[in-house]
Amino acid sequence: MITVQTHHGFYCVKFEPFERSDFFTITDAHVAKLYPNLRVDLILEPGESSKDFVHYQQVIAALADARVQRKSTVVALGGGVIGDLVGFAAATYMRGIRFIQVPTTLLAQVDSSVGGKVGIDLPQGKNLVGAFYPPCEVIVDTRFIQSLPLREFRCGLAEVLKYGLILDQELWNQLIASPLTALSTELSSVIERCIRLKADVVESDEFETKGERAKLNFGHTVGHAIEVRTGYEKYTHGEAISLGMVAESWIAEKMGIAKRGLSEAIQTGLVQNGLPVRGLLGGNPSDLVQSMKLDKKSENGTLVMSLVTDIGTCELVKDVPESVVVEVLSEMSDDAGM
Ligand code: NAD
Ligand code: GLY
Repeated sequence: MITVQTHHGFYCVKFEPFERSDFFTITDAHVAKLYPNLRVDLILEPGESSKDFVHYQQVIAALADARVQRKSTVVALGGGVIGDLVGFAAATYMRGIRFIQVPTTLLAQVDSSVGGKVGIDLPQGKNLVGAFYPPCEVIVDTRFIQSLPLREFRCGLAEVLKYGLILDQELWNQLIASPLTALSTELSSVIERCIRLKADVVESDEFETKGERAKLNFGHTVGHAIEVRTGYEKYTHGEAISLGMVAESWIAEKMGIAKRGLSEAIQTGLVQNGLPVRGLLGGNPSDLVQSMKLDKKSENGTLVMSLVTDIGTCELVKDVPESVVVEVLSEMSDDAGM
């Protein structure tokens, strides 16, 4: 059993069944079907489209109908979509009630359940409505990973690889030398390592005001814009982030921040792990840049990105030139000029 205790919560890589007394558990239809022995109170449609106002309202109404009280606990059982949506409902229902995350995807275990960011999307952009609302507890059971479809496993791998690229060269080298699978004996230790890496960053800059936490966003400025422009349907979150990491490492090279060949090396590693490095990006590069300006890191309409300078290190860069971004997107897109 592995435990990581931080003031943001308690992470344990062992399943501790919780007493179902004053708990209200919310999941999605895939998880409910796969784990019928876990009692749940509300089942939502799976997918990013549930992270919107309509489903937020549905959750809040269900809590009120069930007479959930201030001292009750809401349990988010599922991937990042359920965690973000249910966490936001918990943050706002009765001005905030206890909530526990039980992440069931690799992405949610290594990333979204850690650090307290909760929220929903707007048509204009991802996660534009939300809060910092740390769960009281995060219960990580790696057995959930066994039922993940390969595509969803790879989606989580994108964030695992990201940790290697921005913070941990040894982790990146390990993942390239021996790609992780759901059956790898290293699965739990890699998950724990990622949780520790993220927890350390969050501890140093919980509310993303010091420039440290924003570094976790490598690949996300471009990736989020791709998700918005492709209607959240063409790519999983991790696939969009993979494309974003390719674009942003290339941008770093063109800006002279990263040494030549870094993007190529990153692309090789991503391809090896079944992730996309080229494709339809959702339209004209200039339109993607407009979406990027709604990114929360953007300052006065300029682009701010977390850029990898070498494997294992990154820096937050302001005033990224739009012309460089457009050039890179044009080169890697199958739909440039559309
Ligand atoms: P998801 O929640 O949509 O889950 C992916 C798919 O896997 C869904 O179809 C789901 O039903 C299914 N699933 C979940 N658990 C399963 C299991 N054990 N076995 C089989 N299928 C299972 O997506 P995700 O990739 O987990 O999370 C993506 C979301 O997380 C995005 O909305 C992204 O913005 C958000 N995110 C948030 C943060 C944060 O800090 N809050 C960080 C990263 C990503
Ligand atoms: N996923 C980035 C963060 O939690 O800050």
